Amino acid sequence: MSEMQGKTVFITGASRGIGESAARIFVQAGANVALVARSRDRIEAIADELGPQAVALTCDVADFSQVEAAVKATVETFGGLDVLINNAGMIEPISHLADSDPAGWGQVIDINLKGVYHGMRAALPVMQSAGGGSILTISSGAAHGPVEAWSHYCASKAAVNMLTRCVDKEERTNGVRAIGLSPGTVATEMQHEIKASGVNPVSKLDWSDHIPPEWPARCLLWMCSAEADIWLGDEISLRDEDIRRKVGLI
Ligand SMILES: NC(=O)c1ccc[n+]([C@@H]2O[C@H](COP(=O)([O-])OP(=O)(O)OC[C@H]3O[C@@H](n4cnc5c(N)ncnc54)[C@H](OP(=O)(O)O)[C@@H]3O)[C@@H](O)[C@H]2O)c1
Repeated sequence: MSEMQGKTVFITGASRGIGESAARIFVQAGANVALVARSRDRIEAIADELGPQAVALTCDVADFSQVEAAVKATVETFGGLDVLINNAGMIEPISHLADSDPAGWGQVIDINLKGVYHGMRAALPVMQSAGGGSILTISSGAAHGPVEAWSHYCASKAAVNMLTRCVDKEERTNGVRAIGLSPGTVATEMQHEIKASGVNPVSKLDWSDHIPPEWPARCLLWMCSAEADIWLGDEISLRDEDIRRKVGLI
């Protein structure tokens, strides 16, 4: 994992769950990490704990100017940007489309879809001038199949899958590696919200069915290696036993 030494990783949604775990794993692997989220206290506490390899940048990914400023601050702090991890996301408000609140539905699109676009748009000029980089985006099984009361979430994740494919088509020849990760169900705050909704089969899953957030975090680290290159422009599923074996999880 020493190939991450001196590399800089920008992680959105790093205040808890998969993003926080990824920040810890990448710092352990030697990388510099920018922790990006809205909860200032939370990301500052994690960055303090992680030490000089980490910086906390308060940012709402729904606002392009904030994402652009956070990317600039990352480059100023660590001298570059090698890996963008588009992880920030939300699932509430969970509701049937017919009863959905248009503002709440739209906010999920602003964060889950436009937030990913904002990350890509802000990072690509830096990566292009550096000769490349990796753009890893958290997808979901919901990108590929409808789930009751998740129309906003499914639509956002399906669109994000297409963004990964578009970036790959335009930027692979410029050295940009774009890959999605569908983690399966993960034991995070998001699954607490899903369980509390009581709607659809996912909310009925037992807590022990979920994988720990360290698993997708370790997979993201592995996705930075050349071994993952056959998935460029595509999605990796952490439900796949072969992937789990490659990442060293089983
Ligand atoms: N958990 C699962 O089973 C599962 C399955 C498939 C895919 N995923 C995906 O995995 C990713 C991470 O989810 P998680 O399970 O770790 O959920 P989580 O514990 O709820 O964490 C979500 C993270 O996103 C951040 N976030 C939300 N809105 C934001 C905004 N506007 N700007 C910046 N950051 C924002 C939150 O930080 P702040 O609130 O501090 O801003 C938090 O750090 C999401 O994209 C999710 O869709 C999760």
